[in-house]
Amino acid sequence: MELIQANNITKIYTRGSEKIHALNNASFSVNKGDIVCVIGQSGSGKTTLVNVLGCLDNPSSGSLTIDGKEVFKTGLSLSESELTHVRRRFFGYVFQKFFLIPTLTVKENILLPAVFQKKYKANEENLDPIMEMLDIAKRKEHLPSQLSGGEMQRVAIARALINNPSVLIADEPTGNLDSKRSGEIKDLIVNLNKEHGITVILVTHNTDLAKIGNRTLELTDGVLRQ
Ligand SMILES: Nc1ncnc2c1ncn2[C@@H]1O[C@H](COP(=O)(O)OP(=O)(O)OP(=O)(O)O)[C@@H](O)[C@H]1O
Ligand SMILES: [Mg+2]
Repeated sequence: MELIQANNITKIYTRGSEKIHALNNASFSVNKGDIVCVIGQSGSGKTTLVNVLGCLDNPSSGSLTIDGKEVFKTGLSLSESELTHVRRRFFGYVFQKFFLIPTLTVKENILLPAVFQKKYKANEENLDPIMEMLDIAKRKEHLPSQLSGGEMQRVAIARALINNPSVLIADEPTGNLDSKRSGEIKDLIVNLNKEHGITVILVTHNTDLAKIGNRTLELTDGVLRQ
């Protein structure tokens, strides 16, 4: 079943008078249950692509449909509150730069998807099993500044999973991990996909991790090959 359909997505960033074509007419679809790996050199547009797919950034042109609902279309996009609803309903995000809040503890960071939105409650019953699974339970009350890079990465993954997302978008989720931890994250992602049916969109430079994909999207200077 088709979950995400992207048609001719173009993203142009403007920096002063300079225009950067980060994505050029990218079209593809993601089916429910896919593990899609996004690969390509640094600066090729991977983060831009997954940010648009995850409705965190709007394309300059093109259209995006999530589960049959048109989210972006040239000349039209959903309101911010409708976009928030789509993000919360479908996605869990692991950001390349973590974006942990320095003043919140590990536990509070993981529950963050609910902190600012009274209407949305994080699934607190997921907290302990997820922290156990990612081996960060003993860091529960620590601040991000007291964690290692790998621990921060695992907290970011925990936060992405707290609300049982349909789609996990992970941008370099093993970028700061050694090979043992990377292997564990790989097994975890495969397990989330196989056992829990989570669709995965995975940006990675790690060739071993990239093998778990049933589909690969390769970006070269914003142009997609699949
Ligand atoms: N907010 C922005 N404003 C202007 N240019 C940007 C912005 N974000 C990204 N870019 C540019 O767009 C291009 C694609 O960036 P993107 O972050 O998508 O690359 P990437 O493939 O994720 O790279 P990496 O592997 O280093 O994370 C790059 O040339 C980058 O400099
Ligand atoms: Mg990136």
